[in-house]
Amino acid sequence: MKTPLLWISLLVIAAGMMVVNGQEGTPPGMPPMQTPQIPGITTADQFPQACVDCHLNYTEMNMDVRLSTIMKGMSEKVDPELLKKLQPTAPEGVTLKGKHPELGPEAFNNIPASCRTCHSPNSKTAPPAKQMTHVIHLTGEENIFLGMFGGECTHCHKLDKTTGLWSIPSAAEK
Ligand code: HEC
Ligand code: HEC
Ligand code: HEC
Repeated sequence: MKTPLLWISLLVIAAGMMVVNGQEGTPPGMPPMQTPQIPGITTADQFPQACVDCHLNYTEMNMDVRLSTIMKGMSEKVDPELLKKLQPTAPEGVTLKGKHPELGPEAFNNIPASCRTCHSPNSKTAPPAKQMTHVIHLTGEENIFLGMFGGECTHCHKLDKTTGLWSIPSAAEK
């Protein structure tokens, strides 16, 4: 129970020093106070429905990254780089073939819940969603999710500020 007291006294000392010095800023040895920019926590959430709010058909950029479009491509052929990256997430003994099973429209009515029917944590055939999703979005050089979207956990994980519970929303593709 020593730690909180220590922190409080440090804060009191720091505040006192700022008054004595008559200046704004950080006392020596203390990290500067700043407002963190965490989507959904301290700033607006631009992707409240997670996957389907980001994987859109960006017509003005002529870029269709809807998951239905992506998965259609993968049912023909998976990019070898991606396949290599995802192989370690596959269940033991499974070698990814590099061709996704064809998905009907119902697979895109509830993303990622519908994906999770096959990509469950104990799947024997497909990489579990939790591993696959993290490796896709949070690893690799020149990763667009990291480089352009800040790699924020809260783009997918949503905090209920009242109960403290985390969840991942699931919704139909737009
Ligand atoms: C804020 C934007 C954003 C959100 C939210 C998001 N993604 Fe992505 N996703 C991306 C970007 C950007 C990439 C490309 C990453 C890269 O550069 O390799 C990507 C890549 C993917 C890919 C691989 C596509 C490929 O061809 O390499 C899949 C599959 C995917 N996302 C599924 C999902 C799922 C499922 C969810 C929700 C659990 C989700 N994404 C949430 C932005 C997002
Ligand atoms: C009917 C079961 C099923 C459903 C539903 C499903 N998947 Fe898969 N998925 C698989 C299987 C099986 C593999 C392994 C394919 C292989 O061997 O290459 C796989 C592999 C993948 C891979 C790795 C690349 C590949 O094809 O090997 C990605 C990415 C992926 N799935 C994304 C998704 C997303 C996103 C959804 C939901 C929109 C989804 N999957 C729904 C069965 C499914
Ligand atoms: C692109 C979407 C996406 C992003 C970004 C993301 N996650 Fe996840 N995360 C998921 C999904 C999907 C699951 C699986 C949920 C399930 O199976 O119910 C998950 C599950 C988890 C779990 C529980 C499962 C486990 O592996 O033990 C942890 C912990 C976790 N995420 C941490 C993080 C952290 C930390 C970050 C940021 C550095 C992050 N996630 C960013 C989609 C995401």
